[in-house]
Amino acid sequence: MFAFNFNNTTMHIFYGKAALRDYLKSIKTSNSTIGFVPTMGALHQGHLALMQKSLLENKNTVVSIFVNPTQFNNPEDLAKYPRTLEEDVKKLTALSPKIILYAPTVEDIYDGQPLSQSFDFDGLENQMEGEFRPGHFNGVGTIVKRLFEIVAPTNAYFGEKDFQQLQIVKKMVAKANLEVNVIGCPIYRESNHLAMSSRNERLSPHEREEAAIIYKTLTITKEKFQTESPESVTEWVKKAFENNTLFTLEYFVIADEETLLPSVIKEPNKKYRAFIAVFVNNIRLIDTISLN
Ligand code: PAJ
Repeated sequence: MFAFNFNNTTMHIFYGKAALRDYLKSIKTSNSTIGFVPTMGALHQGHLALMQKSLLENKNTVVSIFVNPTQFNNPEDLAKYPRTLEEDVKKLTALSPKIILYAPTVEDIYDGQPLSQSFDFDGLENQMEGEFRPGHFNGVGTIVKRLFEIVAPTNAYFGEKDFQQLQIVKKMVAKANLEVNVIGCPIYRESNHLAMSSRNERLSPHEREEAAIIYKTLTITKEKFQTESPESVTEWVKKAFENNTLFTLEYFVIADEETLLPSVIKEPNKKYRAFIAVFVNNIRLIDTISLN
């Protein structure tokens, strides 16, 4: 264990699972709860909002920071992923020195070769992010399952920004009968409504400003969806990006929130959501909005 002192407050940091487990055992009482927020670091307000919720709802809160190699299908994306542990620790300590940080090494998690387990998420893994990032959700499933085993949380907090990931984690928990409540949290946005993301740090000031187009497109989508078919809305979005020289649309999909299958018709009693992924200067940004 390592105790980090910042502004005279001390936070517990663990780099190995054995010491973390021992510590969690030592503070466990009959009715204590553990809230858990897994992250890949480069923390922003969106991450901190999940932690705030966990701090409010649980006796103890564990945060993990681990850039998980097995969920990156693109080696360049993995290499360029921001690693800012020192800054992150300052942000966590300022939020609450009660937070217990687990920042493991690749060896501590994978015991040798970092390899993914293969999962069946009933098809949730085949759409959108799954289609464009082969193997991504096997990597996410592998790390989240492993972290759940190590931390044994009562409640785990995930952002709706990665809505497909949230649904996949819920599916994994249901299929494996894990005793953890998976709690979805709203998307936190910058002042121009760009969804907060660690990848935003790689955008130039101009790109960051212009990236407002993503959420703007989603809000127009929502309006159009009230009177138009999913196909017609999708065509409109594709056209809107055709002449954009800064942003390239990778996908835009309107899907059923439960199955994540693209919707052709609108059925009453079903919940729909729009999902978008765009590239700007090789940086990939995603966002989503509930349509009804
Ligand atoms: P990361 O991208 O660091 O995100 C950690 C958590 O923060 C995820 O649940 C994500 O959905 C949430 N989050 C990110 N940006 C958000 C925003 N703007 N508003 C609200 N929540 C936001 O997602 C991962 O890491 C990894 O895949 C992980 C689950 C840690 C597994 O490696």
